[in-house]
Amino acid sequence: MNVFWFVPTHGDSRYLGTAEGARLVSHDYLKQVAVAADTLGYDGVLLPTGRSCEDAWVTASSLIDATRQLKFLVAVRPGLTAPTLSARMAATFDRLSGGRLLINVVTGGDPVEQESDGIFGTHKERYEISDEFIKIWREVLSKTHTGGETDFDGKHLRVKGAKALYPPIQAPYPPLYFGGSSDEAIDLAAEQMDVYLTWGEPPAAVAEKIKRVRERAAKAGRTLRFGIRLHVIVRETNEAAWRAADELISRLDDETIAKAQANFARMDSEGQRRMAALHGGRRDKLEVSPNLWAGVGLVRGGAGTALVGDGETVAARMKEYADLGIDTFILSGYPHLEESYRFAEHVFPLLPRPQKATLPGFNLTGPFGEIVGNTLVPKGSEAKSAEVKCKAKAKAKPKADAKHDLRVAES
Ligand SMILES: Cc1cc2nc3c(=O)[nH]c(=O)nc-3n(C[C@H](O)[C@H](O)[C@H](O)COP(=O)(O)O)c2cc1C
Repeated sequence: MNVFWFVPTHGDSRYLGTAEGARLVSHDYLKQVAVAADTLGYDGVLLPTGRSCEDAWVTASSLIDATRQLKFLVAVRPGLTAPTLSARMAATFDRLSGGRLLINVVTGGDPVEQESDGIFGTHKERYEISDEFIKIWREVLSKTHTGGETDFDGKHLRVKGAKALYPPIQAPYPPLYFGGSSDEAIDLAAEQMDVYLTWGEPPAAVAEKIKRVRERAAKAGRTLRFGIRLHVIVRETNEAAWRAADELISRLDDETIAKAQANFARMDSEGQRRMAALHGGRRDKLEVSPNLWAGVGLVRGGAGTALVGDGETVAARMKEYADLGIDTFILSGYPHLEESYRFAEHVFPLLPRPQKATLPGFNLTGPFGEIVGNTLVPKGSEAKSAEVKCKAKAKAKPKADAKHDLRVAES
């Protein structure tokens, strides 16, 4: 199971829909979120693209040096830049980050925004552009390893002698992630993508989508991996988690919800339509399937659902999705720094994935907790250290019976 976090380049809230308790999203803050994700052992972070967020490439580049093993899932919108330039940017980022780039191909679902960026045409035509763009992008990067140029003469895009001289570290190119729920999106995923992403719909709907994508991919003689994009609200108890969900929208007024929903309604995104249909703009029926709460989507575009509960409940719900074929979870929660810690502390130990202590470069094994009376390690610290050592070295069982230890604290 791969678990990713999210870099909140379009703002971070404590209460949705208001500036109360909201956080200045400075470079320092984004760095804190990325460093937290890196040191907590998340596999990567997603950076969105669009006019409502800071630029994904620039932000991700600024975070390479602050992180060690974290991967960057950078959203790229085909058609906005020339495919050859985009391929070269990907190669450079992959080289400079030591092979830590992943690409999220996003066609985009808001015609008003697209036209403001100079992309005109129907939903179908935008997918045609994406299809041509990715064909060129893949061929240019593939040929960096073998030599050769790319000629392409499509309906929308044309290049002659396209090439990049410097190959990406990941061959033939960094993996391609992709989300979209329309038929055109599923065709494109099946033909060209490596990982299909869905926003957090209820398990039955996700199962149906996975089936559609698998069947369509089989026709192209291909297989894909699957991922899901969800928010999380994890607390020590289920009651506390539901209270936190209520608090997140406690300052949100009906007028703001109506304005947000009107904006989403003008979009031609099938995925956005499916997200909005989960709650219909109503705040009284937000638990759309057990522990899946649609409150975020009352005002946030795109990913609008959260898994809500204590660690065990959320881990169990994630395993339900995993059983359907999902191997990658791209998560976020408010505020992003605190929730990254809460999720890692409550849920990571319950998931079938390597723990932080087993990752390269992590060799700290305690003591855990503030030293007591300048001499004693806190109760349970020894057991925790033993557990970490055990996971790191894959030997010796954790000491279940470790006593309050009188060992003099190490400096
Ligand atoms: C996980 C995920 C992340 C996405 N990220 C972005 C993004 O950063 N920017 C954007 O404009 N669209 C984003 N999208 C939207 C898709 O690119 C696409 O426009 C949308 O799903 C509508 O396509 P559809 O009509 O095929 O459903 C994302 C979709 C998914 C599933």
